[in-house]
Amino acid sequence: MLLAIETSCDETAVSVVDLTESLKTHRIELRSDLISSQVKFHAAYGGVVPELASRMHLENLPLLIQRALSEAKTEIRALRAVVVTQGPGLKGCLLVGLNFAKALAFSRNLPLLLANHLEGHVYAGELLPDRPQYPMLCLVVSGGHTMLVLVREFRCYEVIAQTRDDAAGEAFDKIATLLGLPYPGGPNLSRLAERGDALKYPLPEALRNDPAAFSFSGLKTAVRKLYENLGGPAISEEDRANVAASAQRVIVKTLVDKSVAASQLLKPQSFVLTGGVAANSLLRAELTKALGVLGVPCVIPPAKWCTDNAAMIAALGVLMYRQRREAFESWSNQKDSLGPGVSFGVDAKPRWPLSEINIGVNGYDQ
Ligand code: KG4
Ligand code: ZN
Repeated sequence: MLLAIETSCDETAVSVVDLTESLKTHRIELRSDLISSQVKFHAAYGGVVPELASRMHLENLPLLIQRALSEAKTEIRALRAVVVTQGPGLKGCLLVGLNFAKALAFSRNLPLLLANHLEGHVYAGELLPDRPQYPMLCLVVSGGHTMLVLVREFRCYEVIAQTRDDAAGEAFDKIATLLGLPYPGGPNLSRLAERGDALKYPLPEALRNDPAAFSFSGLKTAVRKLYENLGGPAISEEDRANVAASAQRVIVKTLVDKSVAASQLLKPQSFVLTGGVAANSLLRAELTKALGVLGVPCVIPPAKWCTDNAAMIAALGVLMYRQRREAFESWSNQKDSLGPGVSFGVDAKPRWPLSEINIGVNGYDQ
């Protein structure tokens, strides 16, 4: 069994996967997949409070691990490896998961695998029966990131486009706050937008002709101006929904247009939509339609695997283990490491862009 731990932001998530079966069947044999969401605790503050999030991880993690093992009908003794998110994310939050994983790996003599959260999102498609094929083009849209990445093979990335300022999720969240919607903004804005007319108030689409960049901060300003022109806090309910729908339309259109342009150019075998904003139903529908026209298979995991979760970290862990299986299997009870290439002093990486990962065919960082 492989235990996966994710604590990079405000969700404590733990998953157990049957490693032996996964290596045999070449599928991700998930045995449990738990998330303890802290949303309602942060809602009172209008956003994630990092210190509160770390403290809640500290409380939740041991209990969640016990439950995940019991739901998987297994126990700590059956673990063969531990994979944990090392970054990017909130430092205090990452440290809770990482230190728990280090202690567990050390005490049970298990190899520790260090996962990049963004890579986790990239491989969420591996959890599906119809897995994506390489080269795959991946749109990662979350609260902190907006990027199109070409994945030529496992852990071989080329960032095609990324945001110059706000992430798409951040734009959803900030516009939602402006319209007086409670945290978390994205899902609430999208719910309000269902009742609005998306074409009533045209909003600007930034960097339309730049295939290598996204920008969402100008949209936020345009929405603020429109909101003020419509009466500010005295805006009618109908117009509030119209503004929400128009803002959502522009964000989705920008994401879809750039994804289509990159797909036309790069002709990937699969397109993967992932990250929290991939839970947005308009984005899912529009992207599927647009890529369908191009004949590019579009892989979109269910919403629970688009927002932060540990199943995607488990999937990445299985793939990392498989790539260096011999090194992991021959490693045992070493006094000087926590696993092949993992030192005791390993620390959390709050900043860890995909462009810093360059893994060769042998599976080692170049
Ligand atoms: O991947 P994620 O769970 O956490 C990060 O790694 O950031 O993404 C969270 C982001 C938030 O900005 C949230 O508002 C957005 O994803 N989000 C949505 C929806 N569900 C979550 N945005 C638009 N529509 C949704 N349905
Ligand atoms: Zn995420």
